[in-house]
Amino acid sequence: MPKAIIAPSLLSGDWAYLARDCNKMIELGADYLHMDVMDGHFVPNLTIGAPVIKSLRKATTGYLDCHLMVSHPEQWVDDFAKAGADGFTFHIEASDDPVALIRRIKSLGMLPGIAVKPGTPISSLETVFAECIDDLHMVLVMTVEPGFGGQSFMVDMMDKVREVRARFPEIYIQVDGGLALDTVDAAAEAGANVIVAGSAVFGAPKPEVVIQGLRVALEK
Ligand code: DX5
Ligand code: ZN
Repeated sequence: MPKAIIAPSLLSGDWAYLARDCNKMIELGADYLHMDVMDGHFVPNLTIGAPVIKSLRKATTGYLDCHLMVSHPEQWVDDFAKAGADGFTFHIEASDDPVALIRRIKSLGMLPGIAVKPGTPISSLETVFAECIDDLHMVLVMTVEPGFGGQSFMVDMMDKVREVRARFPEIYIQVDGGLALDTVDAAAEAGANVIVAGSAVFGAPKPEVVIQGLRVALEK
């Protein structure tokens, strides 16, 4: 099993104090800073793009784990690399040529991730697995419909996590949506090692307690 990674989602932070919130999360024990990029087209919500990542890059040394919920993700890969993103995760549903995109992300020095929405089976990733598994850093199994924080965890997505973990013992598996202290055990047992948590972390009086609790659940 790869190491435990806790990735607070800045979607639940205060966008007016993004750098402050990022650095605070790192100080409180976070490993990745999960940046939700939404285009108002692939998902019914709109957030940030590469210019914000570029500014943030100057303000934090934390790992910028960019989750692109956008149509045509290939359009943005160069901009995100130049901006200083560390990870670039895109949706299989949004890409015409995921294998080429994974290779491009890697060649630009970022770690590639591929995401599946709740309605998308793992079988949709077969070509990716067959052609570029060695280039792939992470599979993101969405545990809510992408677009908004604060939704309920879909436990039935854990079969997908189990399926990926059984086939690829070393790959990073991220779960995103509704993760909290009362849902993390199911994800950990299924084999996820990267936990995204927005409202559970930012809504807590002591975020460090939640970050630590999530880590303990993964390391059990
Ligand atoms: C949803 C985003 C998530 C979101 C998770 O589309 O991808 O990263 O911030 O928020 P919570 O943890 O509140 O479900
Ligand atoms: Zn996300």
